[in-house]
Amino acid sequence: MSVTTGDFRNKVTALSLLEKKQHHELITCLTAYDYPTARLVDEAGIDIVLVGDSLGMVMLGYDSTLPVTVHEMLHHTRAVRRAVKHAFLVADMPYASYHVSMRDTLRNAARFIKDGGAEAVKIEGGEKRRRIVERLVDAEIPVVGHIGLTPQSLHAMGGYKVQGKTLKAVEQLMHDALALERAGACCIVLEGIPREVAGMITHELEIPTIGIGAGPECDGQVLVFHDLLGLTFAPAAKFVRRYADLGSAVTNAVLAYKEEVKAGAFPSETESYHLPKETQAALAAIAERKHALR
Ligand code: KIV
Repeated sequence: MSVTTGDFRNKVTALSLLEKKQHHELITCLTAYDYPTARLVDEAGIDIVLVGDSLGMVMLGYDSTLPVTVHEMLHHTRAVRRAVKHAFLVADMPYASYHVSMRDTLRNAARFIKDGGAEAVKIEGGEKRRRIVERLVDAEIPVVGHIGLTPQSLHAMGGYKVQGKTLKAVEQLMHDALALERAGACCIVLEGIPREVAGMITHELEIPTIGIGAGPECDGQVLVFHDLLGLTFAPAAKFVRRYADLGSAVTNAVLAYKEEVKAGAFPSETESYHLPKETQAALAAIAERKHALR
């Protein structure tokens, strides 16, 4: 099955996500940034694969998502595109790729669809992004919204802080969510907000909400792949559940390899190639002749 040939059987789409919400079927979403992890995630039947700009922190070692470029995002989106056959593929637009002008925003978003193979782009911010969402949707580009704790607003928020705690902030979040829905967003990520607020927004919207640190009332959940598997170095946030400790598994495997190489125990006889018998015999004959001439 390939989306480029237009075969959408069994394919998760913006429309099928909406139907899931209508049928009260919870939606699953994970980030992926490269071919092998995207294949594993897609083959496990996850509904949405998000090439998040979190890749800047978990893959590239930046200390925030702010330095991530369109070029870096496209490089990873293409690798993920080659792996994903079933999930809805969403790419994050990085900081400053949709903040400068509408012209740049449209051009950058179109690159994610044309060059990256994404099926939707995600942008952070609520009401203030209304016109951008309208223009992108008008250009046939599905848009995923993202409100609450929006990591690209790190400096404006004064740190990574749970949002939507006061009545005014709750009203603003509800206003933001409704504005994005009216502008044509196909779903909205709710990050780092009280579960009660996420529940109210989810109830109010027709489009699905995907929560991260937003409690169980959302229409779906998203986690960062590396958080889920214990492959990050900083302490995990409160909302992260670790389903495996691959960090320790990798360290143990690398240590075992190092010890065996140093002890001469790797590679073994069965892990080595051999000369064909005729070549071995020819070499032995040459050695014998050399010996006889001495
Ligand atoms: O960049 C990302 O991974 C995200 C998710 C955490 C929603 O935006």
